[in-house]
Amino acid sequence: MSDVLLEQVRKAYGGVVAVRGVDLRVAPGEFVTLLGPSGCGKTTCLRMVAGFVEPDTGRILIGGKDVTHVPPYRRNTGMVFQSYALFPHLTVAANIAFGMQMRGVGRSDADQRTKEALRLVQLEALAGRYPAELSGGQKQRVALARAVVIRPQVLLLDEPLGALDLKLREELQVEIKRVQSALGITTLFVTHDQGEALGMSDRVAVMRGGEIVQIDTPTALYERPNSMYVANFVGRTNLIEVVLKDREGDSMRVEANGATFSVAGPQDAAFSVGERCLLATRPEHFTIGLGGGNVLTANVLDVSYRGSIWNVELSGPRNESLNAQVRSGQPVPQKGEAVTLSFPPARCFLLKMEQPRAS
Ligand SMILES: Nc1ncnc2c1ncn2[C@@H]1O[C@H](COP(=O)(O)OP(=O)(O)OP(=O)(O)O)[C@@H](O)[C@H]1O
Ligand SMILES: [Mg+2]
Repeated sequence: MSDVLLEQVRKAYGGVVAVRGVDLRVAPGEFVTLLGPSGCGKTTCLRMVAGFVEPDTGRILIGGKDVTHVPPYRRNTGMVFQSYALFPHLTVAANIAFGMQMRGVGRSDADQRTKEALRLVQLEALAGRYPAELSGGQKQRVALARAVVIRPQVLLLDEPLGALDLKLREELQVEIKRVQSALGITTLFVTHDQGEALGMSDRVAVMRGGEIVQIDTPTALYERPNSMYVANFVGRTNLIEVVLKDREGDSMRVEANGATFSVAGPQDAAFSVGERCLLATRPEHFTIGLGGGNVLTANVLDVSYRGSIWNVELSGPRNESLNAQVRSGQPVPQKGEAVTLSFPPARCFLLKMEQPRAS
């Protein structure tokens, strides 16, 4: 059984379709992230699970129970918003206890649970402060404590770290994961930050224009994106337009400009001989120089230092924009230099050609 189930859920605002037929299943204790660009429908999905927005069609189940038409306060969900939404006139402890009062939890029980929640997010020392006296990260911890103290069946987090700087974001990512797994709470998380999604989730659902276009574990999503859109949204991918020449089992030969490349391993989609498609490989699989496998010549456009790696921007034989990484300490090519790029067939995959679209 799943803790959260969305079945063909759709929502339009006037002429704007925000969510168009989403199916999603979150297992008990699972951490699933909705990832996608601004306006793709992430918040709308989350608000429909919370009950703040009612879908036009489709069903939402929580713990096997149909809650599609159940008001938010009768759904067992806790939500954290990007903007904290703390009560400014209440102390940290009172903010955390608020939801329990609304649910009729007795005073001594509520006090006990508030203390536990404060300990969980490491804010015991700040229980008597007011929101205006807290940093952004501390406010977000209060919001998290307030959401989990009611012991919801499902935790809903809408870009909870969006307002924080990078270092604090990374700290709070670890914090949220720690609290989530300590409580074993089913979680639906929303972000447009791919690093955050890959680092925190059991599975990631990539959204585009109101639809989920791929849902997979972080490694599967990164290693086997099923479309150009996902390949480019999750990390960076080198794409070379090719024609499929022949195949033998899982081994394929593709051609571009008279050069041939091998692709090894099963592909997610079916490709036919003669088909125009995209050869894809991640930047970390390019070796500069002869390294066996496929080879390609490219011109170095720019080289920049990133600490543990050098980032190398290149232009391919047909002016494709390519990207490679050189580990610090290894020889770095010069801007303007023509280089050979080698990459293993087993690290290549094919993608269908895609027409550009609006979102
Ligand atoms: N209350 C509303 N009234 C009208 N249109 C809305 C409303 N809420 C959302 N929309 C529209 O629905 C679409 C999806 O919005 P949503 O807030 O779900 O996107 P999002 O993925 O959360 O984006 P962001 O990353 O910017 O928060 C957008 O085109 C948005 O303008
Ligand atoms: Mg949003």
